[in-house]
Amino acid sequence: MSDRRTRTAWALVPIVALIVAACAGAATPSPGGTPSGTAAGTPAGTQAAGTCAAGTTQIEVQSWWTTGGESTGLQKLFDKFNADNPTLCAYNAAIAGGAGTVAQGVVKTRVLSGNPPDSFQVHMGHELLDTYVNISGGSVLAPLDSTIIDPSKFPPGVVKIISGSDGKVYTVPENIHRANVLWYSKKVFADNNLQPPTTWDEFKTVADALKAKGIAALALGDKDIWPYGMVFETILISELGPDGFNGLWTGATKWDDPKVTAALTELQTVFGYVNSDHKSLTWDQANQLVIDGKAAMTIMGDWANGDYVAKKFTNYGWAAAPGNAGLYQALADSFPLPNKAPHPDAVKKLLAFMASAEAQDIFNPWKGSIPARIDAGNPPADAQQYNDYQKSALAEWKTDTVLPSMEHGAAASPAFKTAIETALTAFQTSGDVAGTVAALAAAAADAGL
Ligand code: GAL
Repeated sequence: MSDRRTRTAWALVPIVALIVAACAGAATPSPGGTPSGTAAGTPAGTQAAGTCAAGTTQIEVQSWWTTGGESTGLQKLFDKFNADNPTLCAYNAAIAGGAGTVAQGVVKTRVLSGNPPDSFQVHMGHELLDTYVNISGGSVLAPLDSTIIDPSKFPPGVVKIISGSDGKVYTVPENIHRANVLWYSKKVFADNNLQPPTTWDEFKTVADALKAKGIAALALGDKDIWPYGMVFETILISELGPDGFNGLWTGATKWDDPKVTAALTELQTVFGYVNSDHKSLTWDQANQLVIDGKAAMTIMGDWANGDYVAKKFTNYGWAAAPGNAGLYQALADSFPLPNKAPHPDAVKKLLAFMASAEAQDIFNPWKGSIPARIDAGNPPADAQQYNDYQKSALAEWKTDTVLPSMEHGAAASPAFKTAIETALTAFQTSGDVAGTVAALAAAAADAGL
């Protein structure tokens, strides 16, 4: 069987805006501002240096991981590194807000103004390259040599989108997440004698049956718009197929294609089956509705799997989102070395560890994802193991067709992503398909497509 991790599927992902002005991307709230999201009220940087012993060199790593599986995985990784390097102390300076809605703006301001943390969470692809690497004035991140990361141990398609236009590698990918997954409550399906849908038509049949019983078919937590955007992406994939979907990011598929119109119409229909309080919930609060049997399904990345692990919930099933079978929509969390990192030698040591199979097998069983390294996937017997979902993901990653995630930094420049989200936010209330198609087409034109 061929191993798709050795192919260059992601080489298709274009780096649209090679020169990005500092103003590109999402709003940039000031550090210390009130974060929103999963750990509401957690101030920036609370999981901070306080846990480090006096006299250690403290390595500030900024992330947006504040929920169970997410922060646990990073902490376990740091615990091992800190135990092996007693003079150093890596800590998670977490800023709450799923998908980095707050953290990304904070870190961008810090890095571009010359006051970076030692390292930070950033998605591979456009988010990394357009914001920090291929920018006017030159990269604000340092290239990583073979003492830190051995590119031959990572899929070529991944290496392609963690490398700058100079061909050098600029970040350490810690995982591969799958975005286009349908998670469901086995209890709700069994109690109602239903099967998980494989197409959007089946989804509607199932959703009508559930609606008749007063059960929300699809849990959604779009307090921030990105989970709704993820549902839209899965519908685009099912309407356009892999080549058509990839073409949206290269200009080969036009945003006024009739299939985009069909996808928006479908999105509007699907939106009719979500929980009524969706606008006040975060992604993990929506996932809790599935855990509690109050909703049947949710579409979310496999950090939802990490949420189930953390909450010790096992009565769930998973499938590709409707119309997405055989297609692995992917993203990766990664960690770079800013040129002005306060403790560069310590960070280099940390990143070299994070690039190892050992570290990736400590982190990922908790995170819900699979390791980015080709030779990882075998934690020691006494460590946290990959669960059944992750075993299936490790297998499908080798055989499925890989597609990039727009909402999580891989497919589109931050500015293009923001413009798409603005159009989708308006669409939720207007329901204006033609107007939204026009807005999306204009956003693509602005992105140079
Ligand atoms: C994604 C990130 C994941 C997870 C998720 C929810 O952007 O890649 O690791 O943190 O957001 O916050």
